[in-house]
Amino acid sequence: MAYDLLKGKRGIIFGALDDKSIAWAVAEKCVEEGAQITLTNAPVALRFGQINELAEKLNAKVIPADATSMEDLQNLITESMEILGGKIDFILHSIGMSINVRKKKEYTGLNYDWHHKTLDISAMSFHRVMQTAYEMDAINDWGSILALTYIASQRIFPDYNEMADAKSLLESYARSFGYHFAKKNKTRVNTISQSPTITTAGSGVKGFDDFFGYADQMSPLGNASAEACANYCVMMFSDMTRSVTMQNLYHDGGFSKMGMEPAVLGK
Ligand SMILES: NC(=O)c1ccc[n+]([C@@H]2O[C@H](COP(=O)([O-])OP(=O)(O)OC[C@H]3O[C@@H](n4cnc5c(N)ncnc54)[C@H](O)[C@@H]3O)[C@@H](O)[C@H]2O)c1
Repeated sequence: MAYDLLKGKRGIIFGALDDKSIAWAVAEKCVEEGAQITLTNAPVALRFGQINELAEKLNAKVIPADATSMEDLQNLITESMEILGGKIDFILHSIGMSINVRKKKEYTGLNYDWHHKTLDISAMSFHRVMQTAYEMDAINDWGSILALTYIASQRIFPDYNEMADAKSLLESYARSFGYHFAKKNKTRVNTISQSPTITTAGSGVKGFDDFFGYADQMSPLGNASAEACANYCVMMFSDMTRSVTMQNLYHDGGFSKMGMEPAVLGK
Protein backbone atom coordinates (compact mmCIF):
# COMPACT_ATOMS: atom_id res chain seq x y z
CA MET A 1 0.00 0.00 0.00
CA ALA A 2 1.39 3.42 -0.94
CA TYR A 3 0.83 6.65 1.00
CA ASP A 4 2.29 9.29 -1.36
CA LEU A 5 4.93 10.00 1.29
CA LEU A 6 7.39 11.22 -1.34
CA LYS A 7 4.95 12.92 -3.70
CA GLY A 8 6.71 15.71 -5.63
CA LYS A 9 10.17 14.82 -4.29
CA ARG A 10 13.25 14.27 -6.43
CA GLY A 11 15.94 11.76 -5.49
CA ILE A 12 19.19 10.11 -6.55
CA ILE A 13 19.70 6.42 -5.75
CA PHE A 14 23.23 4.98 -5.81
CA GLY A 15 24.02 1.26 -5.82
CA ALA A 16 21.26 -0.77 -7.53
CA LEU A 17 23.19 -3.60 -9.18
CA ASP A 18 20.60 -6.38 -9.42
CA ASP A 19 17.23 -7.23 -7.92
CA LYS A 20 18.87 -8.40 -4.67
CA SER A 21 20.51 -4.99 -4.05
CA ILE A 22 19.06 -3.04 -1.14
CA ALA A 23 19.11 0.07 -3.38
CA TRP A 24 16.91 -1.76 -5.89
CA ALA A 25 14.17 -2.19 -3.28
CA VAL A 26 14.61 1.43 -2.13
CA ALA A 27 14.28 2.76 -5.70
CA GLU A 28 11.07 0.77 -6.24
CA LYS A 29 9.53 1.99 -2.95
CA CYS A 30 10.48 5.62 -3.56
CA VAL A 31 8.75 5.64 -6.93
CA GLU A 32 5.75 3.79 -5.48
CA GLU A 33 5.54 6.59 -2.89
CA GLY A 34 5.43 9.28 -5.58
CA ALA A 35 9.08 10.32 -6.03
CA GLN A 36 10.89 10.93 -9.29
CA ILE A 37 14.41 9.52 -9.25
CA THR A 38 17.60 9.05 -11.19
CA LEU A 39 19.62 5.87 -10.77
CA THR A 40 23.40 5.69 -10.74
CA ASN A 41 26.16 3.13 -10.46
CA ALA A 42 29.80 2.66 -11.48
CA PRO A 43 30.24 2.31 -15.25
CA VAL A 44 31.47 -1.29 -14.85
CA ALA A 45 28.34 -2.19 -12.85
CA LEU A 46 26.19 -0.85 -15.69
CA ARG A 47 27.77 -3.39 -18.01
CA PHE A 48 27.44 -6.41 -15.68
CA GLY A 49 24.38 -5.56 -13.59
CA GLN A 50 20.68 -5.29 -14.36
CA ILE A 51 20.15 -1.61 -13.57
CA ASN A 52 18.71 -0.86 -17.01
CA GLU A 53 15.87 -3.28 -16.31
CA LEU A 54 15.02 -1.35 -13.16
CA ALA A 55 15.29 1.97 -14.99
CA GLU A 56 12.82 0.82 -17.61
CA LYS A 57 10.39 -0.45 -15.01
CA LEU A 58 10.52 2.81 -13.02
CA ASN A 59 10.79 5.11 -16.00
CA ALA A 60 14.01 6.51 -14.51
CA LYS A 61 17.22 7.65 -16.20
CA VAL A 62 20.53 5.93 -15.42
CA ILE A 63 23.52 8.23 -15.08
CA PRO A 64 26.85 6.40 -14.77
CA ALA A 65 29.17 7.69 -12.03
CA ASP A 66 32.17 6.23 -10.29
CA ALA A 67 31.57 7.46 -6.73
CA THR A 68 35.30 8.13 -6.31
CA SER A 69 35.37 10.64 -9.20
CA MET A 70 34.49 14.27 -8.43
CA GLU A 71 33.93 14.92 -12.12
CA ASP A 72 31.44 12.05 -12.40
CA LEU A 73 29.60 13.22 -9.27
CA GLN A 74 29.32 16.81 -10.51
CA ASN A 75 27.96 15.54 -13.79
CA LEU A 76 25.52 13.21 -11.99
CA ILE A 77 24.08 16.00 -9.87
CA THR A 78 23.87 18.48 -12.74
CA GLU A 79 22.15 15.97 -15.01
CA SER A 80 19.81 14.79 -12.25
CA MET A 81 18.62 18.36 -11.60
CA GLU A 82 18.05 18.86 -15.32
CA ILE A 83 16.16 15.59 -15.78
CA LEU A 84 14.09 15.86 -12.60
CA GLY A 85 13.41 19.56 -13.06
CA GLY A 86 14.91 21.13 -9.94
CA LYS A 87 16.97 20.67 -6.80
CA ILE A 88 17.24 17.26 -5.14
CA ASP A 89 15.26 16.27 -2.02
CA PHE A 90 16.94 12.99 -1.13
CA ILE A 91 19.99 10.84 -1.83
CA LEU A 92 20.68 7.19 -0.99
CA HIS A 93 24.35 6.13 -0.78
CA SER A 94 24.29 2.33 -1.04
CA ILE A 95 27.89 1.55 -1.98
CA GLY A 96 30.31 -0.94 -0.53
CA MET A 97 33.36 -2.76 -1.82
CA SER A 98 36.38 -4.24 -0.03
CA ILE A 99 39.35 -5.01 -2.21
CA ASN A 100 41.22 -6.88 0.56
CA VAL A 101 38.17 -9.09 1.22
CA ARG A 102 37.81 -9.73 -2.46
CA LYS A 103 41.51 -10.73 -2.66
CA LYS A 104 41.17 -12.84 0.52
CA LYS A 105 43.57 -10.79 2.66
CA GLU A 106 43.12 -11.13 6.42
CA TYR A 107 42.67 -8.02 8.60
CA THR A 108 46.15 -8.53 10.09
CA GLY A 109 47.79 -8.64 6.66
CA LEU A 110 46.14 -5.83 4.69
CA ASN A 111 47.50 -4.48 1.47
CA TYR A 112 47.43 -0.71 2.06
CA ASP A 113 46.98 0.30 -1.58
CA TRP A 114 43.81 -1.81 -1.60
CA HIS A 115 42.84 -0.48 1.82
CA HIS A 116 43.00 3.09 0.45
CA LYS A 117 40.74 2.05 -2.38
CA THR A 118 38.28 0.37 -0.01
CA LEU A 119 38.06 3.48 2.16
CA ASP A 120 37.69 5.67 -0.92
CA ILE A 121 34.89 3.61 -2.48
CA SER A 122 33.02 2.62 0.69
CA ALA A 123 33.37 5.72 2.87
CA MET A 124 35.03 8.78 1.30
CA SER A 125 32.61 8.53 -1.60
CA PHE A 126 29.88 9.54 0.88
CA HIS A 127 31.78 12.70 1.78
CA ARG A 128 32.43 13.35 -1.92
CA VAL A 129 28.73 13.06 -2.76
CA MET A 130 27.77 15.41 0.08
CA GLN A 131 30.51 17.94 -0.64
CA THR A 132 29.60 18.03 -4.32
CA ALA A 133 25.92 18.59 -3.55
CA TYR A 134 26.78 21.17 -0.85
CA GLU A 135 29.06 23.20 -3.10
CA MET A 136 26.56 23.08 -5.96
CA ASP A 137 23.73 24.09 -3.59
CA ALA A 138 21.83 21.17 -5.09
CA ILE A 139 19.73 20.03 -2.12
CA ASN A 140 16.32 21.52 -1.29
CA ASP A 141 15.61 22.83 2.22
CA TRP A 142 14.62 19.95 4.51
CA GLY A 143 16.38 17.45 2.24
CA SER A 144 17.43 14.03 3.50
CA ILE A 145 20.64 12.11 2.80
CA LEU A 146 21.16 8.47 3.84
CA ALA A 147 23.95 5.92 3.68
CA LEU A 148 23.73 2.23 4.54
CA THR A 149 26.04 0.78 7.17
CA TYR A 150 26.57 -2.32 9.30
CA ILE A 151 26.99 -2.86 13.06
CA ALA A 152 30.58 -4.12 12.60
CA SER A 153 31.49 -0.40 12.66
CA GLN A 154 30.70 -0.39 16.40
CA ARG A 155 31.17 -4.00 17.58
CA ILE A 156 33.67 -6.63 16.56
CA PHE A 157 32.72 -9.02 13.76
CA PRO A 158 36.18 -10.34 12.80
CA ASP A 159 35.27 -11.54 9.32
CA TYR A 160 33.94 -8.11 8.33
CA ASN A 161 37.62 -7.19 8.01
CA GLU A 162 38.57 -3.68 6.78
CA MET A 163 34.94 -2.87 5.97
CA ALA A 164 34.40 -2.32 9.71
CA ASP A 165 36.76 0.66 9.56
CA ALA A 166 35.20 1.92 6.34
CA LYS A 167 31.77 1.84 7.99
CA SER A 168 33.06 3.66 11.11
CA LEU A 169 34.33 6.43 8.87
CA LEU A 170 31.07 6.48 6.90
CA GLU A 171 29.06 6.93 10.11
CA SER A 172 31.39 9.67 11.27
CA TYR A 173 30.91 11.56 7.99
CA ALA A 174 27.14 11.45 8.56
CA ARG A 175 27.57 13.14 11.95
CA SER A 176 30.12 15.71 10.81
CA PHE A 177 28.51 16.67 7.50
CA GLY A 178 25.07 16.43 9.11
CA TYR A 179 26.02 19.41 11.26
CA HIS A 180 27.05 21.56 8.28
CA PHE A 181 24.07 20.56 6.14
CA ALA A 182 21.62 21.25 8.99
CA LYS A 183 23.07 24.74 9.39
CA LYS A 184 23.08 25.36 5.65
CA ASN A 185 19.46 24.50 4.83
CA LYS A 186 18.00 22.04 7.35
CA THR A 187 19.14 19.05 5.32
CA ARG A 188 19.49 15.95 7.47
CA VAL A 189 22.13 13.24 7.16
CA ASN A 190 21.85 9.78 8.73
CA THR A 191 23.12 6.24 8.36
CA ILE A 192 20.89 3.17 8.57
CA SER A 193 22.58 0.15 10.11
CA GLN A 194 20.93 -2.78 8.36
CA SER A 195 20.72 -6.49 9.26
CA PRO A 196 22.76 -8.94 7.17
CA THR A 197 20.95 -9.15 3.83
CA ILE A 198 21.59 -11.64 1.02
CA THR A 199 23.07 -9.48 -1.79
CA THR A 200 26.21 -9.47 -3.95
CA ALA A 201 28.16 -7.26 -1.50
CA GLY A 202 26.79 -9.06 1.58
CA SER A 203 27.54 -12.55 0.35
CA GLY A 204 31.14 -11.54 -0.37
CA VAL A 205 31.88 -11.44 3.39
CA LYS A 206 33.58 -14.62 4.70
CA GLY A 207 31.17 -16.87 6.63
CA PHE A 208 28.18 -14.74 5.55
CA ASP A 209 25.66 -17.60 5.64
CA ASP A 210 26.62 -18.48 9.22
CA PHE A 211 26.33 -15.00 10.57
CA PHE A 212 23.15 -14.34 8.61
CA GLY A 213 21.61 -17.27 10.53
CA TYR A 214 23.20 -16.21 13.81
CA ALA A 215 21.85 -12.65 13.50
CA ASP A 216 18.44 -13.97 12.52
CA GLN A 217 18.29 -16.06 15.70
CA MET A 218 19.70 -13.32 17.92
CA SER A 219 17.22 -10.69 16.70
CA PRO A 220 13.85 -10.98 18.44
CA LEU A 221 12.15 -9.76 15.26
CA GLY A 222 14.48 -11.74 12.98
CA ASN A 223 16.71 -10.12 10.35
CA ALA A 224 15.24 -7.08 8.62
CA SER A 225 14.71 -7.66 4.89
CA ALA A 226 15.79 -5.38 2.03
CA GLU A 227 12.13 -4.49 1.53
CA ALA A 228 11.74 -3.46 5.17
CA CYS A 229 14.92 -1.39 4.82
CA ALA A 230 13.38 0.31 1.79
CA ASN A 231 10.32 1.25 3.85
CA TYR A 232 12.56 2.74 6.53
CA CYS A 233 14.48 4.73 3.90
CA VAL A 234 11.20 6.11 2.53
CA MET A 235 10.23 7.26 6.01
CA MET A 236 13.63 8.93 6.46
CA PHE A 237 13.27 10.70 3.08
CA SER A 238 9.75 11.84 3.92
CA ASP A 239 8.66 14.96 5.82
CA MET A 240 7.70 12.77 8.80
CA THR A 241 11.29 12.70 10.11
CA ARG A 242 12.42 16.32 9.75
CA SER A 243 14.12 16.51 13.13
CA VAL A 244 16.20 13.35 12.83
CA THR A 245 19.78 14.02 11.85
CA MET A 246 23.41 12.97 12.52
CA GLN A 247 22.21 9.55 13.76
CA ASN A 248 23.21 5.99 13.16
CA LEU A 249 19.81 4.27 13.09
CA TYR A 250 19.61 0.54 13.73
CA HIS A 251 17.29 -1.36 11.44
CA ASP A 252 18.09 -4.84 12.63
CA GLY A 253 15.11 -6.52 14.31
CA GLY A 254 16.56 -5.67 17.74
CA PHE A 255 19.95 -7.36 17.24
CA SER A 256 22.02 -4.39 18.44
CA LYS A 257 20.35 -4.37 21.87
CA MET A 258 20.67 -8.11 22.54
CA GLY A 259 23.02 -9.65 25.07
CA MET A 260 22.10 -13.33 25.09
CA GLU A 261 19.47 -15.38 23.26
CA PRO A 262 18.82 -18.82 24.75
CA ALA A 263 17.85 -20.29 21.35
CA VAL A 264 21.38 -19.63 20.08
CA LEU A 265 22.67 -21.88 22.89
CA GLY A 266 20.17 -24.52 21.88
CA LYS A 267 17.96 -23.88 24.95
N1 LIG B 1 24.05 -6.97 2.43
C1 LIG B 1 24.26 -6.77 3.72
O1 LIG B 1 24.33 -7.72 4.52
C2 LIG B 1 24.40 -5.37 4.24
C3 LIG B 1 24.19 -5.12 5.61
C4 LIG B 1 24.35 -3.81 6.08
C5 LIG B 1 24.71 -2.80 5.20
N2 LIG B 1 24.91 -3.09 3.87
C6 LIG B 1 25.35 -2.01 2.97
O2 LIG B 1 24.35 -1.76 2.02
C7 LIG B 1 24.95 -1.13 0.89
C8 LIG B 1 24.47 -1.80 -0.38
O3 LIG B 1 24.98 -3.09 -0.50
P1 LIG B 1 24.12 -4.35 -0.96
O4 LIG B 1 24.17 -5.35 0.15
O5 LIG B 1 22.82 -3.92 -1.50
O6 LIG B 1 25.04 -4.98 -2.12
P2 LIG B 1 25.20 -4.64 -3.70
O7 LIG B 1 26.41 -5.42 -4.10
O8 LIG B 1 23.95 -4.92 -4.40
O9 LIG B 1 25.51 -3.07 -3.72
C9 LIG B 1 26.79 -2.49 -3.62
C10 LIG B 1 26.86 -1.46 -4.73
O10 LIG B 1 28.06 -0.67 -4.65
C11 LIG B 1 28.34 -0.31 -6.00
N3 LIG B 1 29.70 0.22 -6.18
C12 LIG B 1 30.87 -0.42 -5.94
N4 LIG B 1 31.90 0.38 -6.29
C13 LIG B 1 31.37 1.56 -6.73
C14 LIG B 1 31.91 2.78 -7.21
N5 LIG B 1 33.24 2.97 -7.32
N6 LIG B 1 31.07 3.78 -7.58
C15 LIG B 1 29.71 3.62 -7.48
N7 LIG B 1 29.15 2.48 -7.02
C16 LIG B 1 29.96 1.46 -6.65
C17 LIG B 1 28.15 -1.66 -6.72
O11 LIG B 1 28.12 -1.54 -8.12
C18 LIG B 1 26.84 -2.11 -6.12
O12 LIG B 1 25.73 -1.62 -6.86
C19 LIG B 1 26.46 -1.19 1.11
O13 LIG B 1 26.91 0.02 1.68
C20 LIG B 1 26.56 -2.31 2.14
O14 LIG B 1 27.77 -2.25 2.88
C21 LIG B 1 24.74 -4.34 3.38
